[in-house]
Amino acid sequence: SWTMLNIVEDSVEAVRRQVGDGHAICALSGGVDSAVAAAIVQRAIGDRLTCVFVDHGLLRKGEADQVERDFVAVTGVKLRVVDAADRFIKALEGVTDPEEKRKIIGREFIRVFEDEQRAIMADMPVEFLVQGTLYPDVVESGGGTGTANIKSHHNVGGLPDDLRFTLVEPLRALFKDEVRRAGEELGLPAAMVWRQPFPGPGLGIRIVGEVTRERLELLREADAIAREELSRAGLDRQIWQCPVVLLADVRSVGVQGDGRTYGHPVVLRPVTSEDAMTADWAKVPFDVLSRISTRITNEVREVNRVVLDVTSKPPGTIEWE
Ligand code: XMP
Repeated sequence: SWTMLNIVEDSVEAVRRQVGDGHAICALSGGVDSAVAAAIVQRAIGDRLTCVFVDHGLLRKGEADQVERDFVAVTGVKLRVVDAADRFIKALEGVTDPEEKRKIIGREFIRVFEDEQRAIMADMPVEFLVQGTLYPDVVESGGGTGTANIKSHHNVGGLPDDLRFTLVEPLRALFKDEVRRAGEELGLPAAMVWRQPFPGPGLGIRIVGEVTRERLELLREADAIAREELSRAGLDRQIWQCPVVLLADVRSVGVQGDGRTYGHPVVLRPVTSEDAMTADWAKVPFDVLSRISTRITNEVREVNRVVLDVTSKPPGTIEWE
């Protein structure tokens, strides 16, 4: 739209003024906020922006490709990809406590990002750090601005406090729906622009039990099926999000073909919500649930049961961990 075009152009101009002939870095998460922020800054300063994508191996099917391939193709952004899956999985070995998982994922993210930042700064000075801060975040945190000090819950672990960058926050005046429209204006991939909320620690907190490569693979397949069927049923806008959770330490007896199985259940957690503070379990039509269940149990080996979470928030949180 005309106004959105203006907002994007004004924002590009403001970044150009702020950064001058300086250099900036930006961590991409796969989410819409960091993607739109990076795309705006790229328009303003081109190759003087370096984006870093830490692939922690905990994203959903197709999401790493969206960043590495589609986003780069559309924006021309200069991107460094770190395939850190092995490192994250190693660090998570034997860990089952949810808070412990979050801490480890956050800590590893910071370490990997710091390494990248050092490598980048060996070639050029970097004065600016791009953040996808939205207007509601600004209000919530009292409107402060300046150096990096990010809520650790919000991004993957937050960023190190000892980095003294000046923040560039091109989305500071925007609400989420405006960010999505700006993303469309910038030609970003629809799956990225319309992505439902997804936690920074990713699938790591949707496996109840230890996180392993094999379990991630199962969950990624089950999640992709649920997302595909919900989209196909036209429910993306009505449903706030639908975590799929693998109960990795639970097994139950099943029967398939002429054999007994002893596999894991997955939980479907579709919710409706305004702001994630409270939520209601979503009344997904039975035929859609039925298709999801049939496909997951047929297509995902090791998963022999699909259960539905019918708990509101409160008392349940949206995520299981
Ligand atoms: P809960 O589980 O607390 O989740 O009801 C509320 C919303 O926040 C998302 N969530 C996170 N987002 N980093 C994030 O960026 C996190 O560590 C995190 N934990 C939960 C969750 O998906 C839901 O939308």
